[in-house]
Amino acid sequence: MRVPEDRLTDYGRAVNRHFYESEADDDVRPWVEAFRSGYRAWWICDRARVVANLGVIETDVSLPGGARLPLAGITAVGVAQTMRRRGLLRALMQAALDEARTRGEPLAALFASESAIYGRFGFGPAVPHVAYRTDRSRLRFRDPVDVRLVEETTAEAAATTWPAIHERLRGQRGGSVGVTDGLWRMTVLEDPPGWRDGATARRLVEVPGRGYARYRVKEGGDWVASDGTVVLGELVATDPEAEAALWQHVCDIDLTTRTTTWLRPPDDALPHLVTDPFALRAFEGPPMYVRVLDVPRLLTTRAYATRGSATVEVIDPAGYAGGRWHLDVGTDGASCDPATRSPDLVLPVDALATVAFGGVRATTLLAARRLEERRPGAAAALDRLLAVDLAPWTTTEF
Ligand SMILES: CC(C)(COP(=O)(O)OP(=O)(O)OC[C@H]1O[C@@H](n2cnc3c(N)ncnc32)[C@H](O)[C@@H]1OP(=O)(O)O)[C@@H](O)C(=O)NCCC(=O)NCCS
Repeated sequence: MRVPEDRLTDYGRAVNRHFYESEADDDVRPWVEAFRSGYRAWWICDRARVVANLGVIETDVSLPGGARLPLAGITAVGVAQTMRRRGLLRALMQAALDEARTRGEPLAALFASESAIYGRFGFGPAVPHVAYRTDRSRLRFRDPVDVRLVEETTAEAAATTWPAIHERLRGQRGGSVGVTDGLWRMTVLEDPPGWRDGATARRLVEVPGRGYARYRVKEGGDWVASDGTVVLGELVATDPEAEAALWQHVCDIDLTTRTTTWLRPPDDALPHLVTDPFALRAFEGPPMYVRVLDVPRLLTTRAYATRGSATVEVIDPAGYAGGRWHLDVGTDGASCDPATRSPDLVLPVDALATVAFGGVRATTLLAARRLEERRPGAAAALDRLLAVDLAPWTTTEF
């Protein structure tokens, strides 16, 4: 089921076909080349025809406190229209998760185009995001900074200097996925016309050494009333002045009336940078779903807000992460061992992922009946342990 090296182009075409995207060489080749290494490609073929595909990006993810763990980044999931609902996705997912577990990857993650699919495979929404649409005619910045800080840059320069800025962000926030060389190629270096969805080529701007943004501009309206849209792919800054300058730049582009973006953290500065919050519309953005494959490694690698302990029973019908675990957080780190004592909390493995990065509270899941409290107050106590300073955030979809 693993795709042979010399068939990667056929795999790439199948991925695009199953997403209803262009199968033209110019649109498939750049991303296949980007993932010639650090990527595990899976498929199921029916004679010569590729009927199902799934990919795994070999990367890592930051945890609260800044430590990182290897991550299997599941991507490129698709099944031929005539072969759906026969268990092909299930077969590929199981093979990919088995392999991740064998390789010692304690976590897998994905973005879902249809969010109802992945809970059954143990994935929980762990890194929530907010989507924004700004109304340029009403948007005023409260304390403007000099936008001349923002400079245009080239793809080659960005690919060299932006990774260090992104790494600084990852030191501050959990849930941030490592942007591999392949992902930088996909988001910065490669930009064939077929990927632009009627918008311009990517515009790359930066406050050198401090922050960057990439976006496209989609024309709209007519010559009397222009009505373009700035489609913001990513905006990252490591200090407040660079952050304000980049937002001012991307929200005030001539011939546009709005800026859209969909992968912002819930504690984003943006709503507080502007005078009128109604000039922004906020929506639920796509969360990053996480699948825990190794509970002790996750819980002993992340940092905690305070000392304390909890015994949790994790339900995992797939058999990767289930069991009763006792977490003990002391002054010199955390231990997590199999336990026999009765649990404080019982929760399915997807709910464990949802709370583990500190982006969603255990008490919220208790209210939603996604976890069971066996000792009164145990969910609130777990929240105190798992609390984070900054919300988890991943800036790049994969
Ligand atoms: C989504 C997709 C990959 C599912 O593949 P599939 O082979 O039909 O899935 P399976 O038959 O293995 O189904 C596995 C389980 O997921 C469920 N499922 C599959 N697609 C679903 C959907 N769109 N919504 C909700 N549940 C879905 C099935 O009912 C089945 O559940 P069960 O085993 O608990 O009964 C396929 O429909 C597809 O290619 N869609 C278009 C591309 C796409 O959306 N890719 C996903 C990107 S995140």
